[in-house]
Amino acid sequence: MSEADTGEAIVEVNYDELIPNNVDLASDTKLQRALENWLPKYVEWWNEAGPEDTGDMEVYLRTAVGVDPKGWAKFGHVRMPEYRWGILLAPKEEGRVIPFGKHKGEPAWQEVPGEYRALLRRLIVVQGDTEPASVEQQRYLSKTAPSLYDMRNLFQVNVEEGRHLWAMVYLLVKYFGRDGREEAQGLLERRSADVDKPRILGAFNEQTPDWLTFFMFTYFTDRDGKMQLESLAQSGFDPLSRSCRFMLTEEAHHMFVGETGVGRVIQRTCEAMHEAGISDVTDIEAVRKLGVIDLPTLQKKVNFHVSVTSDLFGAELSTNAANSFSAGIKGRFAETRIDDDHVLNNDTYKVARVVDGKVVDMEEPALNAINARLLDDYHKDAAGGLGRWNKIISKAGFEFELTLPYKGFHRKIGEFSGHFITPDGEVVSEQQWQDQKDEWLISDADGEYIGSLMKPCLEKGQYANWIAAPRVGINKQPDDYEYVKIN
Ligand SMILES: [Fe+2]
Ligand SMILES: [Fe+2]
Repeated sequence: MSEADTGEAIVEVNYDELIPNNVDLASDTKLQRALENWLPKYVEWWNEAGPEDTGDMEVYLRTAVGVDPKGWAKFGHVRMPEYRWGILLAPKEEGRVIPFGKHKGEPAWQEVPGEYRALLRRLIVVQGDTEPASVEQQRYLSKTAPSLYDMRNLFQVNVEEGRHLWAMVYLLVKYFGRDGREEAQGLLERRSADVDKPRILGAFNEQTPDWLTFFMFTYFTDRDGKMQLESLAQSGFDPLSRSCRFMLTEEAHHMFVGETGVGRVIQRTCEAMHEAGISDVTDIEAVRKLGVIDLPTLQKKVNFHVSVTSDLFGAELSTNAANSFSAGIKGRFAETRIDDDHVLNNDTYKVARVVDGKVVDMEEPALNAINARLLDDYHKDAAGGLGRWNKIISKAGFEFELTLPYKGFHRKIGEFSGHFITPDGEVVSEQQWQDQKDEWLISDADGEYIGSLMKPCLEKGQYANWIAAPRVGINKQPDDYEYVKIN
């Protein structure tokens, strides 16, 4: 029995071994060998599909040195292929019980329960697949980085998504034997947007062609990651819960990159409009002449990213989600703080459905509505950043508010798919939708304009014209800090 299994929390991470870890990997030589065998294949994947032409760059990255919430990371310049991707689990909670479903109150599982093996493996594979996918989507972005600071943040997100893949692969290889090893291999073989072997979920096959897309992605789509990890952190399968709990501490930085990134775009746009004496924020032509991104275009980007990310939650009414919940495998957001019996045999939940051309809230069995609820929680959670973005706009003296589109807008999956719904939640005809869609979503011309701004700005302390400098440096570094040594 390893130290981790005895319940003693190993807070420090052992960096003396090939694979840094706090799971006492050395005590399980078979597992250690399997993961050491996977490591070179992972590095091969990183070099082939990760950030392009960056092997010589030295990047100011944080590496996890422990799982203690205070001071878990150290910072330093590293070459990314040599980054120490490790396996980190949050400390074991003594006496943890399964918090929901039909096994509620039973001791959390330390091994995979046989009856839920396939279900659990699938959930881990789907979560694992999103991690390398986002790295692949962001492969070319460093070429057009608006600053060294932003380039560094991109790479930080990339190496941590890589580490999240390690977290899921550890679970697959340790707990699922041969098929787990095969799945670990498959995670390195699929590629974002590949015709023959695409990534599993739709949003992870979309392009990330520019930095505005990257910031929107990290704010809105990494937040789906947060919601999924929060739900999996509730899992009765304790190793999954502990993996996800630590991943959440890393995920917070990804959403910070997105929120501050979009916020800095807004700030710069407002500054430029001020200097030019423009008061009409909808005068897109005039604003674009300044080489900044107009606010109506930002609203379209919000609409797109929220809708594509909403599809990641799956169908609002789902027997799969019901089964995972009842089994105690995947809970709800903030499960332990919800005031109900956590079994849900007799509860209902209001689910918006389209009936006779109208959106109607209908009471549905809460068990079937797990995804609907998580999507609602996601929209509530995402609203916070919009409030802060709107404050930047109003502080600058402009009248304009960014809003979240209605959850049924532009959906391809679930209750709203096949319907044409405006950002305000009105059901319209296909013709109306076609006539107006360029008001709601980025047109080709919008995309081209954003693309035209994407020129690298790599002088220390300098920022591209379309984005403001951050208020504070990473790890409190000075304004002109060399976050990336290009070499
Ligand atoms: Fe992740
Ligand atoms: Fe992330």
